[in-house]
Parts: sequence; C-alpha cells; structure tokens
Amino acid sequence: MAQLLITGGAGFIGSHTALVLLEAGHSLVVLDNFQNSSPESLRRVQELAGPEAAAKLRVVEGDIRSAADLEEALGSSTDAVVHFAGLKAVGESVAKPLAYWDVNVCGSRQLLAAMQRAGCRTLVFSSSATLYGIPDVVPIPESAPVQPINPYGHSKAAVERMLSDLAASEPGWRIACLRYFNPVGAHPSGRLGEDPNGIPNNLFPFVSQVAVGRRNRLSVFGGDWPTPDGSGVRDYIHVMDLAEGHRAAVDVLLAEDPQLLTLNLGSGQGHSVLEVVAAFEAASGQAVPYEVVARRPGDAATTVADPSLAAELLRWRTQRGLSQMCRDGWAWQSANPQGYAS
Ligand SMILES: NC(=O)c1ccc[n+]([C@@H]2O[C@H](COP(=O)([O-])OP(=O)(O)OC[C@H]3O[C@@H](n4cnc5c(N)ncnc54)[C@H](O)[C@@H]3O)[C@@H](O)[C@H]2O)c1
Repeated sequence: MAQLLITGGAGFIGSHTALVLLEAGHSLVVLDNFQNSSPESLRRVQELAGPEAAAKLRVVEGDIRSAADLEEALGSSTDAVVHFAGLKAVGESVAKPLAYWDVNVCGSRQLLAAMQRAGCRTLVFSSSATLYGIPDVVPIPESAPVQPINPYGHSKAAVERMLSDLAASEPGWRIACLRYFNPVGAHPSGRLGEDPNGIPNNLFPFVSQVAVGRRNRLSVFGGDWPTPDGSGVRDYIHVMDLAEGHRAAVDVLLAEDPQLLTLNLGSGQGHSVLEVVAAFEAASGQAVPYEVVARRPGDAATTVADPSLAAELLRWRTQRGLSQMCRDGWAWQSANPQGYAS
C-alpha cells in the first residue's frame, strides 16, 4: 500500500477519491487551504472509512503555492501525488485570469519542484475536457486538438504541457493527466457531495438546488442546438466512478514503467440538459422548473468522451448511469440542503 499526497482533497472530487483510496488501504496526507471546501468533508470521509482507515488520513491546512506547506505535506516518503487543488470556474477565469494562472499553473509548478526535491516522481493530475474547446469530432478522442477557449482551459493545457516537458527532461516520471468530462452525483450515503460556494456554475448542482427549493428556476442555455431535443448534450460521470478511475490510475502508475498517460475519464454517453432535468425530477419526486434562454458564448452543442483508451490502459470504465447520479445527488442535497454548513 502506498503513501499518497492528495492536494485539494477536501473538495468535491478530492473527498470522494480520498475515501476510495483509504478504502483501498492507502495512507493519505491531504493538503488543502479550504478556500472552496470545508474540513467537515474530511471528517465525514473518516467517518465513512471507519476508525482503522481514518487513522491513515493526515490533514495539512496549507497552500500549494507555499514551498513550506508542500514540504510539510510531502515529507520524505510520499510514493505518489494526486493533484486536485485548483480553481475551476470558467466564468470566473475570464474575469480573473491572473488568479487562474497563479493557482493552477504557478501552484502546479511549485508542487512539481517540491516533488523533485522530495524525490517523488509519480503524479495524477486533474485535467479537464474544457481544453478541447469546441470539439471538431464527437465522441472526442485524446488525439483531438487542444484548443481551449477560456483562461481556465488554457491553465489546464499549460500544466499538461509543463508535465510533458518535465517527463521528457529527466527519466523516472510516472504521470497521468486525467481529462474529466462532467463529474456529478455524490457518495450513495448522502454524507459527501458537491457544495459549491455561491451560485453554482454547473448544471447538476443548480438542478439539485432548484429541486430542494434553494433556487427558483433553472436557465437552460439554448433550445436550438442541433441535438435531439435542442438542449446541450454532455457526458456526465458519477463522482464515485471518477474516484475509482483515480484509484486505477495510481495503481497502474505505481506498478508499471515510467510513462506519461493522457486519458479521458467519461462515460461515452451523452445526455441533454432536458434529460437531466427529467431524470432528476424522477429521482427526487420534486419539480424542477426551467426556462429556455439564449445560448452562452463558448458553449458547444455536444461534448462526449471517447473513453476507450482509459478502459484499455486503466482497465476501468464507468459503472453508474444517469438515474443513479440523480438518486445519489438527491440523497446528498436533500440531507444537506445548505451543503456542509447544514
Ligand atoms: N468539477 C468539475 O466539473 C471538474 C471538471 C474537470 C476538471 N476538474 C478539476 O478537478 C479538480 C478538483 O475539482 P473539484 O470539482 O473537486 O473542485 P473543488 O473546488 O471542490 O476542489 C478543489 C480543492 O482545492 C482546494 N484549493 C484551491 N486552491 C488551493 C490552493 N492554492 N492550495 C491548496 N488547496 C487549494 C480547494 O479548497 C478545494 O478543496 C480541479 O483541479 C478542477 O479544475 C473539475
């Protein structure tokens, strides 16, 4: 079993992944500054993992841009790092590009330098399908052009570039860049889930907040896309499937020769906004009122992953469909209407 550093491990994807990695028997240090999360998520990870596994989780409150915080979190015996920490809101990245270059790019550079100093050369990086921009081909293979159209996507593309330059510069690096599609849902217990600050940027938490009565109605951006019902189509992936994809990536990197993997993590299935609304209404028994408004600049009609390379190389594929995403998302939202502050 390995000693792992999880940056951003208190966040949405990080907390679910931390639980899966603890349950697999690994020891974890989580480094998080809690700027978009709560220590309560890690307390619940420990509760779900049980006392024996919980004792294998250490939390360091700190920033990935701080060499001292990184040194404390890495120590001298870290086998691998799973790097979630970062800023992730597309709209905010347009308004505050320097913050995105600072945290996502400079923060990743600091982390890589600290890993070099600590002698750790194994990394799983949270990349994003956002870097495909408006895709030319759907389903999207990893060989599709990287053509981001916003600062968030540029920051992810820059880190991927930095990682491939680094891997080419010295032997021994084992790196997996995982390009996530649309992570949604929650742990089936309803104890862990997505708890966005302020108005949610993504469809799924917005829908669940409308269902629970925190917001009045959903705006559907565009009803005239070239899709079966006119609303945009995305590839949603259950956060527990995504967490299991990280466990598989850690296992493969630690077991195999040094390599640089770039993999889509998605289901390969597209669902429209209106399908998500109907599935969420069915799972929750609540109405989700919506209105169709104008398209947003920069949106694509359809983005769906070709997940075949991850299936082959990680021996992993998604197991959970849209109704389970909605059921588990509703279990979390209805038990925690105000997120971790409930
Ligand atoms: N959720 C998505 O839709 C999605 C899609 C593709 C890629 N990603 C990427 O996955 C990663 C995790 O996303 P998430 O949805 O769990 O987001 P999140 O905001 O819930 O988690 C990110 C965590 O990083 C922490 N953090 C931020 N800046 C930090 C810093 N400077 N130092 C230390 N900790 C810091 C936050 O407090 C938070 O706990 C991000 O890198 C994101 O870009 C997310």
